[in-house]
Amino acid sequence: MSKTIGIDLGTTNSVVAVMEGGSPKVIPSSEGKNTVPSIVEPAKNLVGEVAKRQMILNPTNTVYSIKRLMGRKISDRQVEKTKKLAPYAIVAGKNNAAAVKIGAKTYTPEEISAKILQKLKTDAEAYLGEKVDKAVITVPAYFDDAQRQATKQAGEIAGLTVERIINEPTAASLAYGLDKKTNQTIAVYDLGGGTFDISVLEVGDGVFEVKATGGDTFLGGDDFDHKIIEWITSEFKKDNGIDLTSDKQALQRIRDAAERAKIELSSSQDSEINQPFITQGKDGQPLHLTMKLTRAKLEELVDDLVQRTLGPVKAALKDAKVEPKDIHEVVLVGGMTRMPRIQKLVKDYFGRDPHKGVNPDEVVAVGAAIQAGVLAGDVKDVLLLDVTPLTLGLETLGGVRTPLIDRNTTIPNQPQVEIHILQGEREMAEGNKTLGRFVLDGIPSAPRGTPQIEVTFDIDSNGILNVSAKDKGTGKEQKITIKNATNLSDEEVEKMKAEAAAHADEDKQKKERIEAKNQADAAVFEVEKQLKEHGDKLDKKDKEAIEEKVKTLKDLAGKDAASAPDLKKATEELLTASQKLGEIVYKKTEEEAAKAEGTKSDNKKSDSSSEASAKDDKKGADVEEGEVVEE
Ligand SMILES: Nc1ncnc2c1ncn2[C@@H]1O[C@H](COP(=O)(O)OP(=O)(O)OP(=O)(O)O)[C@@H](O)[C@H]1O
Ligand SMILES: [Mg+2]
Repeated sequence: MSKTIGIDLGTTNSVVAVMEGGSPKVIPSSEGKNTVPSIVEPAKNLVGEVAKRQMILNPTNTVYSIKRLMGRKISDRQVEKTKKLAPYAIVAGKNNAAAVKIGAKTYTPEEISAKILQKLKTDAEAYLGEKVDKAVITVPAYFDDAQRQATKQAGEIAGLTVERIINEPTAASLAYGLDKKTNQTIAVYDLGGGTFDISVLEVGDGVFEVKATGGDTFLGGDDFDHKIIEWITSEFKKDNGIDLTSDKQALQRIRDAAERAKIELSSSQDSEINQPFITQGKDGQPLHLTMKLTRAKLEELVDDLVQRTLGPVKAALKDAKVEPKDIHEVVLVGGMTRMPRIQKLVKDYFGRDPHKGVNPDEVVAVGAAIQAGVLAGDVKDVLLLDVTPLTLGLETLGGVRTPLIDRNTTIPNQPQVEIHILQGEREMAEGNKTLGRFVLDGIPSAPRGTPQIEVTFDIDSNGILNVSAKDKGTGKEQKITIKNATNLSDEEVEKMKAEAAAHADEDKQKKERIEAKNQADAAVFEVEKQLKEHGDKLDKKDKEAIEEKVKTLKDLAGKDAASAPDLKKATEELLTASQKLGEIVYKKTEEEAAKAEGTKSDNKKSDSSSEASAKDDKKGADVEEGEVVEE
């Protein structure tokens, strides 16, 4: 049975892990790193490190932080915010879902994410030496239904059966608590590139019970970077009177520099920001960007963001009915928690030093791998009880929202109810997000209030909502699956899946062709070199035969249409022919050497010392053998 991989599909970085010999292991990427930048250049099909490397020169075609658009409408306030900041175009796709436009082509966030997942899948296959088609993928605990469905669809497009979607902090707790025997209440504080998550759990002896979860799907490292970018550009404008925010390339360089400065300031007190030739002055002279950012200034710039994480923390603790002092351990997850100011905030609030034992970049993927192991039966005696992140409710008379399943209710849960399905925390129906509306027909007319429709909310273990309805009067049942308007239809998923698979083939062929061509070029180079050096030792006929093969291969390698098998065949033929060249050259050289030996034998002793010692060695070997004979 093929293995199920665990994937942390992050806003900034993605990680894949797998259970190996009973313990979780992070799989290194083909570039040899444990994390893969969640960056895609879709037109050229570049993903990860290679996409990141060309981002500064190609900002409008390079997509980063796609997770922020997953399952969101174009009119979403957060999407509007991202649109202003992102160098790539964000447009309205089908059903007014947010999409990105690169060149003439529009890509859904699911497709872009699928490219990242596909790379992780390929890297895992290379590492494991077998096909991989199943995965557990993590999402922020605070992701809503549409965002979860979008993530699942991204997996499907990448050719992965998504066995389970699990919450990132829950995954982190699995990795943290797998070997904890005694019960403890922990908090997982996860501040990543795009999202903030907080979960309170009871962990111990194989049971992982989420007590409450909270967060903000639009609070992460990206926002810290933007604060620095704003500061840099406004300072620059003050000094030079030039607004850099409309220059996409300059802005991309500044974004890069801002993130680097932020990271540097986690370990030092100040950081130099240096970007020469960032733009031109009014009279055409080059302008450089040189600034100094101190840790104190950074902390001042991002203070509101840091404080903002406390809101969800307090709410989650309240929902879990615990006080900060009841928390035995605070587990820090996400790259942003390396920031000293964040660590201080956590320490001050909980009154204890955060736990240092887990790798904040890898722990989520490790937890996903453990969950995959649980599903496959490789990891035993683990019970995971998660909760609904947001209240599920419905509109009742007068536009009022009536909560049905309160947030932080243990999944699965199936109460019985009636129609317009809402997700969110607002009291009035209109303040919440519509997940779906039911039109259940065929109900016999009856006095007002008489028909009873039993609606079943079925949250599967992925946290994805399925709703079915039954008319209690007639017993007629209709199963209606809630499809969020921003999500893709099954056909669309199938189509994208096929496209992705087709590209996978195409890419594989391309790669094989490039490899074959490289080998052909190398063979031509090698044989031509030998011919130049030793060609005169060959018979004219033999030499011509080899030259003929060289020419054939050279011509073939020069053609774009040449296939990998053809190139391989011609290369092999040339190599076979040149073996003969090698033999002849070798034989001729030996003959000549023998001849030379005969004429030069008297001079041998005065030859270079290295040759002399080589000869001595040989003699030594002979003597040893000789000694045995003598005995
Ligand atoms: N030493 C550091 N100091 C401060 N920030 C850091 C450091 N290292 C990484 N970061 C920041 O952490 C963020 C990335 O964190 P991480 O890889 O955990 O995010 P992610 O998992 O991709 O995102 P999310 O979980 O929100 O989807 C980036 O904003 C990065 O700049
Ligand atoms: Mg993360």
